[in-house]
Amino acid sequence: MDAAVPPDGIAISVRNLHKAFGALKVLRGVSLDVRQGTCVAVMGGSGTGKSVLIKHVVRLLRPDKGTIWVFGQRVDEMEEAVLNQLRLRIGFLFQGGALFDSMTVGENLDFILSRHTPFPASERQERIRNALAWVALPDKASSYPASLSGGQRKRIALARAVILEPEILLCDEPTTGLDPVSVRMVSDLLVRLRDELGITIVSITHDLLSARITADRACFLHEGRVIAEGTLEELQEDADPVLRDFFGD
Ligand SMILES: Nc1ncnc2c1ncn2[C@@H]1O[C@H](COP(=O)(O)OP(=O)(O)OP(=O)(O)O)[C@@H](O)[C@H]1O
Ligand SMILES: [Mg+2]
Repeated sequence: MDAAVPPDGIAISVRNLHKAFGALKVLRGVSLDVRQGTCVAVMGGSGTGKSVLIKHVVRLLRPDKGTIWVFGQRVDEMEEAVLNQLRLRIGFLFQGGALFDSMTVGENLDFILSRHTPFPASERQERIRNALAWVALPDKASSYPASLSGGQRKRIALARAVILEPEILLCDEPTTGLDPVSVRMVSDLLVRLRDELGITIVSITHDLLSARITADRACFLHEGRVIAEGTLEELQEDADPVLRDFFGD
């Protein structure tokens, strides 16, 4: 089963993924399909391997066992040069944002553009202006990340994750720690990426408000496996005590 190419329309397919760190068996047979142009929320308690799971999609980690497919290609066994090309089609919003503190916002964005595109400075600046306008922070190009609020930093990190116009966006807790207004703002941006640009999104989130706004489907990781998968409403109504506990009743 692992070896069959996923059908058209499946942007990401993770199959029977196992990953351990020493004696710690984090993922013990995770399978997940993400349909192109949809947003899937990955939920689960802290330390259950959500970040570990999505790092496999861009091969920041390699599986002990199982296969990872993106756009019908095996990421886990592809050559480095092919992988580097594929990575340009995938944006990654890291948990915590991972902006460079010593660079201004504009320099953070230009860092990506100047490394990965042939565009001259004038076109890069134009793209940076557009990206900042899109996240409603048009005046922040010369600000340093430390001078921004948490919500503003997330929006800048999101602008950076999509500045190369990826086809897939992987978001690791895009709204954690934000106030409800910022949660809505970031979640609405994700919805626009999906609906206006057709971007496929995987969003790790604990945040019900964000999941409600963004998720077409959701899956729930527990003890190294996906124990529930469906719409968010289906997960919220699931009788499994682990899910009951997570959703707070
Ligand atoms: N590179 C690594 N080396 C060793 N252990 C790791 C590594 N990356 C993750 N782990 C361990 O794997 C487990 C799962 O980590 P992961 O970051 O995926 O959790 P998570 O579900 O994202 O949690 P959180 O919701 O707190 O972000 C943790 O116990 C973590 O310490
Ligand atoms: Mg995590």
